[in-house]
Amino acid sequence: MENIKYPLTERRQRSSSAMRELSAGRHLSHRAFIQPLFVEENLLQPREVNGLDHVLVENENSILFSIEADIHRGINKFLLFPVPVTRAERPSDFSFAISIVKKIKEHFGDDIWLALDCCLCSYTTHGHCGILNDEGTGVLNNPSVEILSQYALQLALAGADCIAPSDMMDGRIAAIRNKLDAFSLDAVSILSYSAKFSSQWYGPFRDACHSSPNATGLRDRKTYQLPVSDAEAALSAAARDEQEGADMLMVKPAGHFTDIIYRLKQQTKKPVVAYHVSGEYATIELLAKQGLLQREQAHIEIWASLQRAGADSIISYAAREARQWIENRAY
Ligand code: PBG
Ligand code: ZN
Repeated sequence: MENIKYPLTERRQRSSSAMRELSAGRHLSHRAFIQPLFVEENLLQPREVNGLDHVLVENENSILFSIEADIHRGINKFLLFPVPVTRAERPSDFSFAISIVKKIKEHFGDDIWLALDCCLCSYTTHGHCGILNDEGTGVLNNPSVEILSQYALQLALAGADCIAPSDMMDGRIAAIRNKLDAFSLDAVSILSYSAKFSSQWYGPFRDACHSSPNATGLRDRKTYQLPVSDAEAALSAAARDEQEGADMLMVKPAGHFTDIIYRLKQQTKKPVVAYHVSGEYATIELLAKQGLLQREQAHIEIWASLQRAGADSIISYAAREARQWIENRAY
Protein backbone atom coordinates (compact mmCIF):
# COMPACT_ATOMS: atom_id res chain seq x y z
CA MET A 1 0.00 0.00 0.00
CA GLU A 2 1.74 3.01 -1.24
CA ASN A 3 -0.29 5.66 0.49
CA ILE A 4 -0.13 3.98 3.95
CA LYS A 5 3.24 4.76 5.35
CA TYR A 6 2.80 3.62 8.91
CA PRO A 7 0.23 0.82 9.00
CA LEU A 8 -1.43 0.06 12.33
CA THR A 9 0.29 -2.93 13.91
CA GLU A 10 -0.52 -2.71 17.62
CA ARG A 11 -2.98 0.07 18.05
CA ARG A 12 -5.90 -1.64 16.26
CA GLN A 13 -6.11 -3.90 19.31
CA ARG A 14 -6.72 -0.86 21.49
CA SER A 15 -8.97 1.06 19.12
CA SER A 16 -12.26 0.58 21.02
CA SER A 17 -13.29 -0.35 24.53
CA ALA A 18 -14.61 -3.65 23.14
CA MET A 19 -11.22 -4.44 21.62
CA ARG A 20 -9.46 -3.39 24.81
CA GLU A 21 -11.75 -5.56 26.89
CA LEU A 22 -11.16 -8.56 24.64
CA SER A 23 -7.42 -8.13 24.66
CA ALA A 24 -6.96 -7.15 28.28
CA GLY A 25 -5.43 -10.42 29.41
CA ARG A 26 -6.81 -12.25 32.44
CA HIS A 27 -9.82 -10.68 34.12
CA LEU A 28 -9.97 -10.07 37.84
CA SER A 29 -12.60 -11.71 40.00
CA HIS A 30 -13.73 -10.65 43.47
CA ARG A 31 -13.74 -14.35 44.32
CA ALA A 32 -9.96 -14.25 44.53
CA PHE A 33 -9.96 -11.55 47.23
CA ILE A 34 -9.40 -11.73 50.97
CA GLN A 35 -10.45 -8.87 53.24
CA PRO A 36 -8.30 -8.18 56.34
CA LEU A 37 -10.25 -7.39 59.52
CA PHE A 38 -9.14 -5.90 62.82
CA VAL A 39 -10.98 -6.58 66.06
CA GLU A 40 -9.90 -5.16 69.40
CA GLU A 41 -10.82 -6.33 72.87
CA ASN A 42 -12.83 -3.97 75.13
CA LEU A 43 -13.12 -1.34 72.43
CA LEU A 44 -16.14 0.89 73.09
CA GLN A 45 -16.53 2.24 69.56
CA PRO A 46 -15.00 1.06 66.28
CA ARG A 47 -12.00 3.28 65.63
CA GLU A 48 -10.27 4.66 62.57
CA VAL A 49 -6.66 3.93 61.67
CA ASN A 50 -4.32 6.66 60.50
CA GLY A 51 -3.72 6.09 56.77
CA LEU A 52 -6.25 3.29 56.38
CA ASP A 53 -9.26 5.24 55.15
CA HIS A 54 -12.46 3.17 54.88
CA VAL A 55 -11.02 0.59 57.31
CA LEU A 56 -12.01 0.40 60.99
CA VAL A 57 -10.75 -1.50 63.99
CA GLU A 58 -13.97 -3.21 65.06
CA ASN A 59 -15.13 -4.36 68.48
CA GLU A 60 -16.69 -7.66 69.50
CA ASN A 61 -20.14 -6.62 68.29
CA SER A 62 -19.43 -4.40 65.32
CA ILE A 63 -17.25 -7.07 63.70
CA LEU A 64 -20.36 -9.15 62.99
CA PHE A 65 -22.10 -6.24 61.22
CA SER A 66 -18.95 -5.52 59.27
CA ILE A 67 -18.73 -9.12 58.04
CA GLU A 68 -22.42 -9.14 57.23
CA ALA A 69 -21.98 -6.02 55.09
CA ASP A 70 -18.96 -7.53 53.35
CA ILE A 71 -20.91 -10.68 52.49
CA HIS A 72 -23.49 -8.48 50.78
CA ARG A 73 -20.67 -6.90 48.81
CA GLY A 74 -19.55 -10.31 47.59
CA ILE A 75 -16.64 -10.92 49.96
CA ASN A 76 -16.68 -14.08 52.04
CA LYS A 77 -12.98 -14.65 52.76
CA PHE A 78 -11.32 -12.88 55.64
CA LEU A 79 -7.99 -12.57 57.38
CA LEU A 80 -8.61 -11.64 61.01
CA PHE A 81 -6.22 -9.77 63.30
CA PRO A 82 -7.31 -9.92 66.93
CA VAL A 83 -5.93 -7.13 69.14
CA PRO A 84 -5.99 -8.15 72.82
CA VAL A 85 -5.78 -5.63 75.69
CA THR A 86 -3.22 -7.44 77.83
CA ARG A 87 0.41 -7.97 76.82
CA ALA A 88 3.03 -10.26 78.27
CA GLU A 89 6.73 -11.12 77.92
CA ARG A 90 5.72 -14.70 77.14
CA PRO A 91 2.08 -14.69 76.02
CA SER A 92 -0.10 -17.60 77.05
CA ASP A 93 -3.58 -16.07 77.19
CA PHE A 94 -5.29 -16.22 73.82
CA SER A 95 -8.83 -16.14 75.20
CA PHE A 96 -9.94 -13.01 73.35
CA ALA A 97 -8.96 -14.39 69.95
CA ILE A 98 -10.54 -17.72 70.75
CA SER A 99 -13.82 -16.19 71.88
CA ILE A 100 -14.07 -13.90 68.86
CA VAL A 101 -13.38 -16.76 66.42
CA LYS A 102 -16.07 -18.84 68.11
CA LYS A 103 -18.50 -15.96 67.98
CA ILE A 104 -17.89 -15.25 64.30
CA LYS A 105 -18.02 -18.89 63.21
CA GLU A 106 -21.11 -19.60 65.31
CA HIS A 107 -22.80 -16.69 63.59
CA PHE A 108 -21.70 -17.23 59.98
CA GLY A 109 -20.67 -20.90 59.84
CA ASP A 110 -19.52 -21.96 56.40
CA ASP A 111 -20.90 -18.81 54.74
CA ILE A 112 -17.43 -17.42 55.33
CA TRP A 113 -13.85 -18.64 55.17
CA LEU A 114 -11.98 -17.30 58.16
CA ALA A 115 -8.19 -17.19 58.27
CA LEU A 116 -6.48 -16.10 61.47
CA ASP A 117 -3.20 -14.26 61.53
CA CYS A 118 -1.02 -16.28 63.89
CA CYS A 119 1.69 -14.17 65.47
CA LEU A 120 2.78 -12.88 68.86
CA CYS A 121 3.50 -9.20 68.11
CA SER A 122 0.03 -8.09 69.28
CA TYR A 123 0.53 -10.10 72.47
CA THR A 124 4.05 -9.22 73.54
CA THR A 125 4.98 -6.20 75.66
CA HIS A 126 7.97 -5.63 73.37
CA GLY A 127 6.04 -5.99 70.10
CA HIS A 128 8.23 -8.73 68.62
CA CYS A 129 6.73 -11.64 66.71
CA GLY A 130 8.31 -14.14 69.10
CA ILE A 131 9.61 -14.15 72.65
CA LEU A 132 12.93 -12.61 73.63
CA ASN A 133 16.00 -13.98 75.36
CA ASP A 134 16.70 -12.86 78.94
CA GLU A 135 18.88 -9.99 77.76
CA GLY A 136 16.12 -8.74 75.48
CA THR A 137 18.48 -8.70 72.52
CA GLY A 138 17.25 -11.60 70.42
CA VAL A 139 14.10 -13.50 69.45
CA LEU A 140 14.18 -17.15 70.54
CA ASN A 141 13.17 -19.51 67.75
CA ASN A 142 12.05 -22.74 69.40
CA PRO A 143 10.17 -21.36 72.42
CA SER A 144 8.37 -18.98 70.04
CA VAL A 145 7.38 -21.84 67.74
CA GLU A 146 6.05 -23.78 70.74
CA ILE A 147 3.77 -20.91 71.75
CA LEU A 148 2.72 -20.18 68.16
CA SER A 149 1.72 -23.76 67.50
CA GLN A 150 -0.27 -23.85 70.75
CA TYR A 151 -2.01 -20.66 69.67
CA ALA A 152 -2.69 -22.06 66.19
CA LEU A 153 -4.23 -25.17 67.70
CA GLN A 154 -6.54 -23.11 69.91
CA LEU A 155 -7.60 -20.96 66.95
CA ALA A 156 -8.35 -24.05 64.89
CA LEU A 157 -10.29 -25.69 67.72
CA ALA A 158 -12.31 -22.47 68.01
CA GLY A 159 -13.31 -22.82 64.35
CA ALA A 160 -10.73 -21.01 62.23
CA ASP A 161 -10.71 -22.36 58.66
CA CYS A 162 -7.13 -21.38 58.06
CA ILE A 163 -4.07 -20.46 60.09
CA ALA A 164 -1.81 -17.76 58.68
CA PRO A 165 1.51 -17.65 60.55
CA SER A 166 3.19 -14.28 60.04
CA ASP A 167 5.99 -14.59 62.60
CA MET A 168 8.80 -15.81 60.30
CA MET A 169 10.30 -18.22 62.85
CA ASP A 170 11.94 -21.34 61.43
CA GLY A 171 10.01 -24.60 61.59
CA ARG A 172 6.65 -23.12 62.49
CA ILE A 173 4.75 -24.57 59.54
CA ALA A 174 5.71 -28.14 60.39
CA ALA A 175 5.03 -27.54 64.09
CA ILE A 176 1.58 -26.12 63.37
CA ARG A 177 0.69 -28.83 60.83
CA ASN A 178 1.69 -31.53 63.33
CA LYS A 179 -0.38 -29.97 66.10
CA LEU A 180 -3.44 -29.64 63.86
CA ASP A 181 -3.15 -33.19 62.56
CA ALA A 182 -2.70 -34.60 66.06
CA PHE A 183 -6.13 -33.17 66.86
CA SER A 184 -7.68 -34.37 63.58
CA LEU A 185 -7.96 -30.82 62.34
CA ASP A 186 -6.78 -31.93 58.94
CA ALA A 187 -9.31 -29.73 57.10
CA VAL A 188 -7.77 -26.59 58.55
CA SER A 189 -5.37 -25.10 56.03
CA ILE A 190 -2.18 -23.11 56.45
CA LEU A 191 -1.54 -19.89 54.55
CA SER A 192 2.10 -19.18 55.19
CA TYR A 193 3.56 -15.70 55.17
CA SER A 194 6.50 -17.29 53.35
CA ALA A 195 8.12 -14.38 51.58
CA LYS A 196 7.62 -11.66 54.13
CA PHE A 197 10.11 -8.86 53.80
CA SER A 198 11.32 -6.49 56.48
CA SER A 199 9.48 -3.45 55.15
CA GLN A 200 8.57 0.14 55.94
CA TRP A 201 5.16 -0.46 54.42
CA TYR A 202 3.65 -2.10 57.54
CA GLY A 203 3.37 1.23 59.37
CA PRO A 204 -0.41 1.80 59.42
CA PHE A 205 -0.95 -1.85 60.36
CA ARG A 206 1.33 -1.54 63.38
CA ASP A 207 -0.62 1.51 64.49
CA ALA A 208 -3.85 -0.45 64.16
CA CYS A 209 -2.53 -3.39 66.20
CA HIS A 210 -0.19 -1.49 68.54
CA SER A 211 2.45 -3.97 67.43
CA SER A 212 5.59 -1.96 66.69
CA PRO A 213 8.75 -3.59 68.02
CA ASN A 214 9.85 -1.53 71.02
CA ALA A 215 12.42 -3.62 72.92
CA THR A 216 15.38 -1.44 73.91
CA GLY A 217 17.83 -4.07 72.74
CA LEU A 218 16.05 -4.90 69.49
CA ARG A 219 14.10 -2.30 67.53
CA ASP A 220 13.42 -3.99 64.23
CA ARG A 221 12.44 -7.37 62.80
CA LYS A 222 15.53 -7.89 60.67
CA THR A 223 16.64 -11.09 62.40
CA TYR A 224 13.51 -12.87 61.24
CA GLN A 225 11.91 -10.97 58.33
CA LEU A 226 13.62 -11.08 54.94
CA PRO A 227 16.07 -8.55 53.51
CA VAL A 228 14.45 -6.66 50.64
CA SER A 229 17.37 -7.26 48.28
CA ASP A 230 17.46 -11.04 48.69
CA ALA A 231 15.18 -12.84 46.25
CA GLU A 232 16.86 -16.20 46.85
CA ALA A 233 16.11 -16.05 50.58
CA ALA A 234 12.44 -15.48 49.81
CA LEU A 235 12.26 -18.38 47.36
CA SER A 236 14.13 -20.61 49.79
CA ALA A 237 11.79 -19.73 52.69
CA ALA A 238 8.78 -20.43 50.47
CA ALA A 239 10.17 -23.79 49.32
CA ARG A 240 10.84 -24.74 52.92
CA ASP A 241 7.31 -23.75 54.01
CA GLU A 242 5.79 -25.72 51.14
CA GLN A 243 7.80 -28.75 52.12
CA GLU A 244 6.68 -28.39 55.72
CA GLY A 245 3.03 -28.47 54.63
CA ALA A 246 1.89 -24.94 53.77
CA ASP A 247 -1.18 -24.97 51.50
CA MET A 248 -0.75 -21.42 50.20
CA LEU A 249 2.31 -19.21 49.95
CA MET A 250 2.27 -15.48 50.47
CA VAL A 251 4.40 -12.66 49.12
CA LYS A 252 4.34 -9.46 51.20
CA PRO A 253 4.47 -6.53 50.47
CA ALA A 254 3.20 -7.02 46.94
CA GLY A 255 3.56 -4.03 44.61
CA HIS A 256 7.33 -3.73 44.58
CA PHE A 257 7.86 -7.50 44.90
CA THR A 258 6.24 -8.71 41.69
CA ASP A 259 9.52 -10.36 40.66
CA ILE A 260 9.16 -12.57 43.73
CA ILE A 261 5.53 -13.33 42.89
CA TYR A 262 6.53 -14.25 39.35
CA ARG A 263 9.43 -16.44 40.40
CA LEU A 264 7.54 -18.13 43.20
CA LYS A 265 4.72 -18.95 40.78
CA GLN A 266 7.27 -20.67 38.52
CA GLN A 267 8.75 -22.57 41.45
CA THR A 268 5.59 -23.94 43.06
CA LYS A 269 2.32 -25.62 42.21
CA LYS A 270 0.72 -24.14 45.33
CA PRO A 271 -1.44 -21.02 45.13
CA VAL A 272 0.50 -17.78 45.47
CA VAL A 273 -1.16 -15.07 47.53
CA ALA A 274 -0.13 -11.41 47.25
CA TYR A 275 -0.65 -9.17 50.27
CA HIS A 276 -1.03 -5.53 49.26
CA VAL A 277 -0.15 -4.26 52.71
CA SER A 278 -1.34 -1.35 54.83
CA GLY A 279 1.31 1.15 53.71
CA GLU A 280 0.72 0.31 50.05
CA TYR A 281 -3.01 0.82 50.52
CA ALA A 282 -2.37 4.07 52.41
CA THR A 283 -0.14 5.34 49.60
CA ILE A 284 -3.02 5.09 47.14
CA GLU A 285 -5.51 6.58 49.58
CA LEU A 286 -3.27 9.57 50.33
CA LEU A 287 -2.56 10.28 46.68
CA ALA A 288 -6.27 9.98 45.93
CA LYS A 289 -7.12 12.44 48.69
CA GLN A 290 -4.70 14.91 47.13
CA GLY A 291 -6.45 14.48 43.80
CA LEU A 292 -3.28 13.00 42.30
CA LEU A 293 -4.84 9.76 41.15
CA GLN A 294 -8.18 8.00 41.02
CA ARG A 295 -8.58 5.69 43.96
CA GLU A 296 -10.65 3.02 42.28
CA GLN A 297 -8.54 2.85 39.13
CA ALA A 298 -5.32 2.82 41.10
CA HIS A 299 -6.38 -0.19 43.17
CA ILE A 300 -7.57 -1.99 40.04
CA GLU A 301 -4.25 -1.25 38.36
CA ILE A 302 -2.20 -2.74 41.16
CA TRP A 303 -4.50 -5.77 41.45
CA ALA A 304 -4.22 -6.43 37.71
CA SER A 305 -0.44 -6.15 38.00
CA LEU A 306 -0.30 -8.62 40.87
CA GLN A 307 -2.44 -11.05 38.91
CA ARG A 308 -0.29 -10.59 35.80
CA ALA A 309 2.81 -11.34 37.86
CA GLY A 310 1.27 -14.65 38.93
CA ALA A 311 -0.75 -14.04 42.08
CA ASP A 312 -3.67 -16.45 42.39
CA SER A 313 -5.31 -14.40 45.08
CA ILE A 314 -4.98 -10.98 46.66
CA ILE A 315 -5.27 -9.66 50.18
CA SER A 316 -6.34 -6.03 49.99
CA TYR A 317 -7.84 -3.56 52.44
CA ALA A 318 -10.17 -2.62 49.59
CA ALA A 319 -11.25 -6.22 48.88
CA ARG A 320 -14.78 -5.31 49.91
CA GLU A 321 -14.92 -2.96 46.90
CA ALA A 322 -13.56 -5.52 44.44
CA ARG A 323 -16.83 -6.84 43.03
CA GLN A 324 -18.27 -3.43 42.33
CA TRP A 325 -15.06 -1.91 41.00
CA ILE A 326 -14.31 -4.86 38.77
CA GLU A 327 -17.86 -4.87 37.43
CA ASN A 328 -17.75 -1.13 36.68
CA ARG A 329 -14.25 -1.20 35.29
CA ALA A 330 -13.89 0.91 32.19
CA TYR A 331 -11.68 -0.50 29.47
C1 PBG B 1 2.27 -9.32 62.14
C2 PBG B 1 1.87 -8.81 60.81
C3 PBG B 1 2.25 -7.63 60.18
C4 PBG B 1 1.50 -7.56 59.03
C5 PBG B 1 0.69 -8.69 58.97
N1 PBG B 1 0.95 -9.46 60.07
C6 PBG B 1 3.18 -6.54 60.59
C7 PBG B 1 4.58 -6.80 60.87
O1 PBG B 1 5.14 -7.85 60.56
O2 PBG B 1 5.17 -5.91 61.50
C8 PBG B 1 1.51 -6.41 58.06
C9 PBG B 1 0.25 -6.19 57.33
C10 PBG B 1 0.09 -4.85 56.72
O3 PBG B 1 0.93 -3.95 56.84
O4 PBG B 1 -0.96 -4.66 56.10
N2 PBG B 1 3.40 -10.13 62.13
ZN1 ZN C 1 4.18 -10.43 64.18
